[in-house]
Amino acid sequence: MSAQPTVVVTRRLPEPVERELSRDFEARLNTNDMPLGPEGLKDALRSADALLCTVTDRLTADVLSTEPRRARMLANFGVGFNHIDTQAAKDRGLAVSNTPDVLTEATADIAITLLLMVSRRTGEGERHVRSGAWTGWRPTHMLGSQVSGKVLGLVGMGRIARAVARRAHHGFGMKVIFHDPYPPSPADAAALGATPRASLDQVLSEADFVSLHCPATPETRHLMNRERLAMMRRNAYLINTARGDVVDEAALVEALADGTIAGAGLDVFEKEPHVSPELIGMENVVLLPHLGSATTETRIAMGMRAVENLRLFFSGAPLRDRVV
Ligand code: DGY
Repeated sequence: MSAQPTVVVTRRLPEPVERELSRDFEARLNTNDMPLGPEGLKDALRSADALLCTVTDRLTADVLSTEPRRARMLANFGVGFNHIDTQAAKDRGLAVSNTPDVLTEATADIAITLLLMVSRRTGEGERHVRSGAWTGWRPTHMLGSQVSGKVLGLVGMGRIARAVARRAHHGFGMKVIFHDPYPPSPADAAALGATPRASLDQVLSEADFVSLHCPATPETRHLMNRERLAMMRRNAYLINTARGDVVDEAALVEALADGTIAGAGLDVFEKEPHVSPELIGMENVVLLPHLGSATTETRIAMGMRAVENLRLFFSGAPLRDRVV
């Protein structure tokens, strides 16, 4: 019998990560890449020492309470961990880690991609060309909104928001404002060309682009509801690379349809992979399939960080990325 800890890997991972895992652990890989579902997750918790899990695994209190449980650790592949009931994990003595830092730049790139795509109507333009409808250049065709000189409002000013601010200010000459209950130092904010606002409402009312960078918690669920969407300027755009349930998707559909806001760029959705059908029919939205961290380099780095967390845990060393 192997002395290596058994790790259930809930989804397919980049090949170098699976190789590394298989070297140091009794790794049970998910070769068909199908989500395990509640029963599969319970089975994994009963039969393995740890799970290397992802955002598609709903580790609820019910799933975590399966008995007799063998697993002692959840190494999450990703920075966000709102799919894990961390209180239930804590109550049951399960350690949880995540993979911060390594996906900051890739996710900031996707926020800027959405900002440019929605303001310059590039999704719509590409559909236009591919459909054969394009009849040629003309001065009034498909005019978008300029980005340079506009105000970017950041909701939350953590690692990813700061990387977005750096790109927006130094790359595009945008004015950056933000609200965060735990703001960066004035010097750090100034280096990003960013100035704080005392309230979220102030950010919403001043910004031409509002980009969401807060974690998904019970407090931030539907933070962008009908009332807050109505505080945004009518020519403003909403960008979401955080988590879907920070936005009330039904209220967003209404706001986009009745012109409360000009458009939205979304990488995350309330009930992924379900996307409100109304959004799919709208030209003033850009819809991406949760691509924030989706570069080869980043996904390998996330995997290696999760493997490192597993190694630290099973060697008895303190976990660098412990969230519970
Ligand atoms: C993250 O790391 O939180 C990304 O959204 C992928 O889950």
